[in-house]
Amino acid sequence: MKKIENISFKKEYNKKENIILLLKGKKKSLPTQYLYDDIGSKLFEEICETEEYYLTRTEHKILNSNASDIIKISSAEELFEFGSGSSKKTKTLILSALKKNNHLTYFSFDISSKALTMSHDELSKISENLNVRLLKGDFNSDITRIKTNKKKRLYLFLGSTLGNFNDKVAINFLQNISNLMNKQDSFLLGVDKVKDENIINLAYNDKKGITKKFNENILNVINKEYKLNFNKNNFLHNAIYNSEKSQIEMYLESTVLQSIKLPNNEYLNIKKGEKILTEISRKFSDETLKRLFNKSDLHVAQSYTDTKKYFSLYLLKTKKYL
Ligand code: AVJ
Repeated sequence: MKKIENISFKKEYNKKENIILLLKGKKKSLPTQYLYDDIGSKLFEEICETEEYYLTRTEHKILNSNASDIIKISSAEELFEFGSGSSKKTKTLILSALKKNNHLTYFSFDISSKALTMSHDELSKISENLNVRLLKGDFNSDITRIKTNKKKRLYLFLGSTLGNFNDKVAINFLQNISNLMNKQDSFLLGVDKVKDENIINLAYNDKKGITKKFNENILNVINKEYKLNFNKNNFLHNAIYNSEKSQIEMYLESTVLQSIKLPNNEYLNIKKGEKILTEISRKFSDETLKRLFNKSDLHVAQSYTDTKKYFSLYLLKTKKYL
């Protein structure tokens, strides 16, 4: 068992008010982060194994083919991964980096203790020369609390997690990383690209129904957190591609007229057919990425993709020193 270092500066206040506002709004939603409790993180790992979910598999392939190039260009002496999940995909980069460095520190930064533990279990046996550090925190509120040093660091944000963020949050996140970076540091970003809608829709509607379970689990999480009485049997899993916004929108759609008692003791009526947004998953075009990188002081040193151009990795540098 490896020690988890908690760097989080928890803001507990106004969490309740926030959830009430989101549920009472005309367009109802729930905070996406509640999908990723221990059970949700485990279910997400299962999603990655489904036939339809091409993202993980494709990204893994791109990483395997280009790991040594990425390590060469970045001259990485340290790896720092955000939202690491189980770190399965990162293994190939770690092995490449260990060929060039006698010692390597790998920082795994995640909100979920379960994910951090999975990450440690996956990596601890690799080599005596690998030091795994587990940091628990939220990558939007705690990113400025990350310590830097003189070692050339390669930051990693893989799996198209950036797709969960709207424009404003995405730019803010990327800008924060750019601010953290020293001149010699690099940042590897993995994003899902715009493609045939059918392929995207299938990826979020797998036939085994694991994505459905993953979506429904958010109700268990908020029921526990706020003592609510949402019943998953009163909702349908609804995930559909919005081509105007180039994003999957994942909803829980109410199958009945229902009434939920909120933390402020008010009752919330949800109509039959009304939908609660639980997650967006953006699919990026080259133009959108160009704009995001520009706005956050990042520039592309190298990019990598698969033969079908489904997914891309960008090796980025900060523009601060230009
Ligand atoms: C972990 C956010 C990248 O958006 O594809 C998978 C989450 N949601 N199936 C994604 C997810 C439904 C996933 N990310």
